[in-house]
Amino acid sequence: MALKRVSRLSPVLETIAKKDEMDPVEQNLRPKILSEYIGQSKIKEHLLIHIEAARRRSEPLGHTLLHGPPGLGKTTLAHIIAQEMNAQVRVTSGPAIEKPGDLASLLTNLSQGDVLFIDEIHRMRPAIEEVLYGAMEDFILDIMIGKGPTARSVRLNIKPFTLVGATTKAGSVSAPLRDRFLHNFKLGFYDKPEMQKIIERSAGILGVQMEGLASHRIASASRATPRIGNRLIRAVRDFSIIRDEPAVTLACVEKTLSSLDIDDEGLDATDRMLLTTIVDAFGGGPVGLSTLAAILAEEDETIEDVYEPYLMQQGFLQRTPKGRMATRKTYERLGRELPPQAQQSLL
Ligand SMILES: Nc1ncnc2c1ncn2[C@@H]1O[C@H](COP(=O)(O)OP(=O)(O)O)[C@@H](O)[C@H]1O
Ligand SMILES: [Mg+2]
Repeated sequence: MALKRVSRLSPVLETIAKKDEMDPVEQNLRPKILSEYIGQSKIKEHLLIHIEAARRRSEPLGHTLLHGPPGLGKTTLAHIIAQEMNAQVRVTSGPAIEKPGDLASLLTNLSQGDVLFIDEIHRMRPAIEEVLYGAMEDFILDIMIGKGPTARSVRLNIKPFTLVGATTKAGSVSAPLRDRFLHNFKLGFYDKPEMQKIIERSAGILGVQMEGLASHRIASASRATPRIGNRLIRAVRDFSIIRDEPAVTLACVEKTLSSLDIDDEGLDATDRMLLTTIVDAFGGGPVGLSTLAAILAEEDETIEDVYEPYLMQQGFLQRTPKGRMATRKTYERLGRELPPQAQQSLL
């Protein structure tokens, strides 16, 4: 069945998701089994136990929700789950399912034990979500056929399957949907040693020779995010080829990063502009999300899902009920004097 992708995602998220789906190099870099998946050790520990137990019981794993910022490995993990369960995976996304009939056709085509991966699951329409409840709970599908006085409800049985849902916004998944997941895993940012391992693994697959200092530097500039690390390797590789180096050097990485306007902590021009705006134009905040988005010419959602999580994790930004606030660390970072009124109030 051809699934049409409805573009309700922010343009950035949409292109990132699409690019990775179609990019053969990205596909190649994806770990295929759990033991190749670096970091997220708590999640792996749990998965290993539940997967092994499910296998021994000859049952599906149980519906699994994966959440966390883009690029941390949700799609990769969904495929790994299917692989480890020896199951087929069907891929779709919340916005791609337009009518209950689309969902019905996906579900009735599943074989016993299949994994149905629904990306951006928080964007599913409520009417479709309701149909999904029965399928998740009892492997039953109640759908209406026809319209008006001739409409009737039909009940279909579906084969036991595992739903893997992924979302960048756990808070936007409705409570009844969230409650129907047996497992709920939150992916976190990767630490530097994990990032370096990921960089070295990806470089190996791409056949890129790299000095230790170079991979270390890429690891710290990758915003603790594997997808960004992979992008940087590919950019650095091109610079290195032009420089005729036998192996990527630290100098080459520095050159690449400065041409991409990425600083030593992995912040890019938009990150810095976001922080500068809060500090210089709004005295450290609070500033509303929409105001920030308008100034940066980005969508609210892109700021919230792509930029802010890392800035908060690094201690550069605070979300308060009144809006976004800079922190002491932000002032230090930008080399600005802390205003007197902020001496006490800022984190
Ligand atoms: N734990 C990991 N170990 C190694 N590489 C990873 C890991 N997680 C993600 N990656 C790499 O990052 C890329 C982006 O991950 P992806 O699963 O598409 O992220 P998400 O779906 O969360 O946006 C993958 O293609 C893969 O190469
Ligand atoms: Mg994904």
